[in-house]
Amino acid sequence: MSQNPNLYERPSPEAIAAVDTAIRSRHSMRAFLPTPVPRETVEAILEVAARAPSGTNTQPWQVHVLTGAALARLSQRILAIHNDPAAAAQLKEEYAYYPSEWVSPYIDRRRKVGWDLYGLLQIGKADKARMHAQHGRNYRFFDAPVGLIFSIDRVMQQGSWLDYGMFLQNIMVAARARGMHTCPQAAFTPFHAVIADELQFKPEQMLVCGMALGFADPEAVENSLVTDRAPLSEFVRFVAE
Ligand SMILES: Cc1cc2nc3c(=O)[nH]c(=O)nc-3n(C[C@H](O)[C@H](O)[C@H](O)COP(=O)(O)O)c2cc1C
Repeated sequence: MSQNPNLYERPSPEAIAAVDTAIRSRHSMRAFLPTPVPRETVEAILEVAARAPSGTNTQPWQVHVLTGAALARLSQRILAIHNDPAAAAQLKEEYAYYPSEWVSPYIDRRRKVGWDLYGLLQIGKADKARMHAQHGRNYRFFDAPVGLIFSIDRVMQQGSWLDYGMFLQNIMVAARARGMHTCPQAAFTPFHAVIADELQFKPEQMLVCGMALGFADPEAVENSLVTDRAPLSEFVRFVAE
């Protein structure tokens, strides 16, 4: 039985536009204003995001919401490692986010977004110090007032990671509906041990990724980056007979 009488109604053009706008206006933002985000707003976003589907309704997501001193403490611990070459050399991810061997077209797209971002920031190819510093901004959640850390139970398999992606996208779209922006962050994955220690993960909890959440700085040049997408003809095949 449906509780929502609108479930089967034809949506208005405005309703379609609202959803498309929330999806299309989601860009990864890499500079945030200090404007606080009320706890109730974070709760509303996470509550609606958890309407994401998951295989047999397993709901594999676990969210650690960091603000204030807790966010600053985690940032400091990670940056101490990030800025110490010997310590950073010891880091190892718990899961491979990227392939070990890159092939086209993925490597080309990866390079393009990197150089487009560094181009906007006027960071040259040889400027390793500024690249390192820019990468380090991940660990301050790009100055966002809210840092989200996501974990999953280790027993969960690939299918649950698929579910997790839907939950993450829901958070990002729900944030847009409320005028906020996000940046999903795999940059945290090499730091799983310090994150698990700082946030007192249980042994069965495994880090998935992080996410910055807040109001984007409209003056920041890096936030003007708009990434492109391949046209449908490159990734869609209609099969009718
Ligand atoms: C799971 C995930 C992890 C990501 N990790 C990072 C990250 O650590 N740092 C970062 O600046 N961007 C990160 N990104 C953002 C991607 O670079 C970005 O989504 C892509 O370039 C497309 O741009 P758009 O998000 O603005 O559409 C990540 C995106 C996803 C989906």
